[in-house]
Amino acid sequence: MRFAGQAAIVTGAGRGMGRAVAMGLAAEGARVVVAEVDDAAGREAVAAITAANGQAMSVTADISRVDDVRSLFRRTIRELGTVDILVNNAGIGIPKPLLDYTEADWDTQLGVNLKGMFFATQEAARVMIPKRQGKIVNFASTAAFVSSSTPETAYDISKGGVRQLTVSAAAELAPHHINVNAVAPGTIMTELTLRVLDTPEKMERAAAKIPMGRLGTPQDMVGPVLFLCSGEADYITGHTLVVDGGWLLF
Ligand SMILES: NC(=O)c1ccc[n+]([C@@H]2O[C@H](COP(=O)([O-])OP(=O)(O)OC[C@H]3O[C@@H](n4cnc5c(N)ncnc54)[C@H](O)[C@@H]3O)[C@@H](O)[C@H]2O)c1
Repeated sequence: MRFAGQAAIVTGAGRGMGRAVAMGLAAEGARVVVAEVDDAAGREAVAAITAANGQAMSVTADISRVDDVRSLFRRTIRELGTVDILVNNAGIGIPKPLLDYTEADWDTQLGVNLKGMFFATQEAARVMIPKRQGKIVNFASTAAFVSSSTPETAYDISKGGVRQLTVSAAAELAPHHINVNAVAPGTIMTELTLRVLDTPEKMERAAAKIPMGRLGTPQDMVGPVLFLCSGEADYITGHTLVVDGGWLLF
């Protein structure tokens, strides 16, 4: 078991890729905190992990609120004693053309995708620095490299920010033996994607643009994220690992 006894927080682990990663970490022995704004989804994910003989607890938290982030870490330390792994997965998309974006849309988009990750990283660093170890994995996107095909400039900016957060936090935290890396998923079949690819034709068109000929699944992300959380990645930091079936190649 690669993560036996380790304490891992996965934000947005109630569904989609976060849930798949939380289940993967628990299957490898981690005690997982499912941090979710959607309380019911969080509890359901914990039930699924427990049913598979894993250990998990859910904490209701809106990652865009710094108070919630701080109480998430306080609660984790109270219940599990420490934090060894943070997976900053929670993210949202507000797909709208630039001209229609409001100030509130911007604040919500950047609040969850970037501010939330920044302050969760800060809290994780507070716990990990004295231990001189820790792994942080951030969910960026291929949108950190190119623009999304749906117009969503603010989303793309948030993911570019996640990529840079990964580089800068990695540089700051490397002397403390803390690894900060990111994954950049391509098009993965989750509720987030289904809101945009809402017909079989749109899905087929999207799959046809991917060299590997298919859309990704949440399970496709588990191996890459667990690798970056593991001792096998001890000498990798500040890296963004693209997991996109070759989509960025063209
Ligand atoms: N699906 C894709 O194709 C794709 C591609 C690239 C990057 N990503 C990124 O991967 C991550 C996961 O995406 P997904 O497709 O699994 O999404 P999803 O919508 O299926 O799941 C996201 C989860 O995060 C939770 N969440 C949302 N806002 C939150 C908040 N403020 N605080 C706590 N939890 C919150 C939701 O309740 C949900 O359970 C996101 O950061 C997303 O931007 C997704």
